[in-house]
Amino acid sequence: MNGQIPEETIEDIRNSNDIVDVIGEYVQLKKQGRNYFGLCPFHGEKSPSFSVTQEKQIFHCFGCGKGGNVVTFLMELEGYNFYDALKQLADRSGKQLPESYQASNNSRQNQANQDVLRAYEWLTKLYHHLLRHTKEGKEGYQYLIDRGFTDELIDTFQLGFSPNSREFIVQFLEKKGFHPQTMVKAGLLSMNDQNQISDRFRGRVIFPIRNHLGKSVAFGGRSINGQEPKYLNSPESELFHKGTLLYNFDKARSTIRKEEAAVLFEGYMDVISAHKAGVHNGVATLGTSLTDAQAKLLRRYVDTVIICYDGDNAGLQATYKAAKTLKKAGCIVKVAVLPEGMDPDDFITQKGAERFKKEVIDVSDTYISFIMRFRKKDYNLKLEGDRIQYVESVLDELALIDRPVEREHYLKELANEFELSLDTLTQEILARRQKIRPKQDKIVQSSNTNMAKGPYKAKKLLPAFHNAERQLLAYMLKDNTIADKVKEELAGSFNIEEHQVIVTYLYAYYEEGHMPNVSHFLEQLPDDSVRSLVVQIAMMPIHEDISDREINDYIRLIRTENSDAVTIKSLQAEQKMAERQNDPLKAAQIAMKILEIRKQLKNSNH
Ligand code: CTP
Ligand code: MN
Repeated sequence: MNGQIPEETIEDIRNSNDIVDVIGEYVQLKKQGRNYFGLCPFHGEKSPSFSVTQEKQIFHCFGCGKGGNVVTFLMELEGYNFYDALKQLADRSGKQLPESYQASNNSRQNQANQDVLRAYEWLTKLYHHLLRHTKEGKEGYQYLIDRGFTDELIDTFQLGFSPNSREFIVQFLEKKGFHPQTMVKAGLLSMNDQNQISDRFRGRVIFPIRNHLGKSVAFGGRSINGQEPKYLNSPESELFHKGTLLYNFDKARSTIRKEEAAVLFEGYMDVISAHKAGVHNGVATLGTSLTDAQAKLLRRYVDTVIICYDGDNAGLQATYKAAKTLKKAGCIVKVAVLPEGMDPDDFITQKGAERFKKEVIDVSDTYISFIMRFRKKDYNLKLEGDRIQYVESVLDELALIDRPVEREHYLKELANEFELSLDTLTQEILARRQKIRPKQDKIVQSSNTNMAKGPYKAKKLLPAFHNAERQLLAYMLKDNTIADKVKEELAGSFNIEEHQVIVTYLYAYYEEGHMPNVSHFLEQLPDDSVRSLVVQIAMMPIHEDISDREINDYIRLIRTENSDAVTIKSLQAEQKMAERQNDPLKAAQIAMKILEIRKQLKNSNH
């Protein structure tokens, strides 16, 4: 699996990256007992069944069955090969990975995508250079400075400028060896009706759009001379999906985790302005409304998302939509309130960073206060009828809150504002909750059955010998002397095929002089399903000091099954022979014998 990178190097890198820290950068983990739990990044779920064990340095999802160590985690999640995963861990811990091994690796991404990524990298650098250091980029630079950008900000976000020339960028890419057709197909260049190829962003300030790994996969361009459209983005491509990408997520990730909140903006301009104002946990959609996938991504990292959209009516409508989507994904939603007609960038430019943080971000509304405010717009509260309707619609929302304290808080607010009795409102809520309840219970139930249908039934009753093999394997993974004993007495004769594979690799592992280390052992295994099984077995609770007698019991159980299996096999052969010899009576007698043994086996197993 690991080619020719020295074993010590791999081990050193693995040891300097604690699995809880690494996975913690992707998933919000909470400690429960000895393990950490969070929402599984490999399948959609609302209650955590994804666990990480620090002691064993492995992860396992009880929901979807995925499991592995820190390296395989990155491989699965980022689609890396072994080398790429190791490289990221090396970078993370300030270690070196010899460059010479890079050549031998075959990344999963195909060659065309690699080319496109390289082209984006070149262009990002070129546009940035032009803006910062040349007279061709001067007007772009001046535009940004006039808007309050600093050199530092321009460098951090690698902002650039595309000069107003049809040829320049096309020639540059060609000189670097990129095929114009490939570049058109990838959306880097555009082609007009006369088959003329040119840079789609010419004359615009360039905002590189990085994917979650920090690589440019698209550009956004802002016109600086009134040209329409004001903002132009690269078209969707294999590498750039607006619906799953959040702008600045790569940079914001660690601050999001640290501050336990993300701030959601409408576009990159706002993210960058906010960054200047000291808000470093900002991300943005790209001119589209927030999707379920983006909400789920955020949810994996944090509980709380603060929506910070424009203060106009369109912004308010978009906020409502995004708030619903985030709620659905299980987020705690807050809403930052901007003065009518201002966007975050305007506010920061006019009133400064300090006030933005203090008066907008820090005092953001709760979800319910926002909903109350939002709904109010639809009613004329001077009219009795409207007032009642408004209160009813707020009650509908309040009924959805599960925490009684929170519900009561808002009920009181509502009672005060409209001079209604708290008792009456409480009654109304109870009635509503009774109506909603059965529906919610149903949802929970059906999601439970989904889990049970999955490939890894948690509580399936296994035959005794099967359990014995799993138990024994769990001890063998933890203790090489037990593995030695089993090897002497049973060698490879486990009954379950996957178990045979595991012991074969495990014996070899110990023979090579390794000490027990599940996380490391995982890397020796041939495929995902065996790896998941080993993780599952390693997670089984076992006694600290097991007696020899217990081990012997397990071995005996496995042997018995073995010999029964052998007997059945030879009887089946005899039966076939009898059939071929045209002796139906004898064949029937043998069949009876087989049935008898099977029946006995069944009884002794349960
Ligand atoms: N946006 C985008 N794609 C679009 C349109 C807008 O990504 N097709 C983003 C921009 O990145 C911008 C944000 O949406 O940051 C707000 O857009 P808009 O309200 O149209 O911009 P203004 O605030 O009017 O733009 P500016 O401040 O540059 O004048
Ligand atoms: Mn703006």
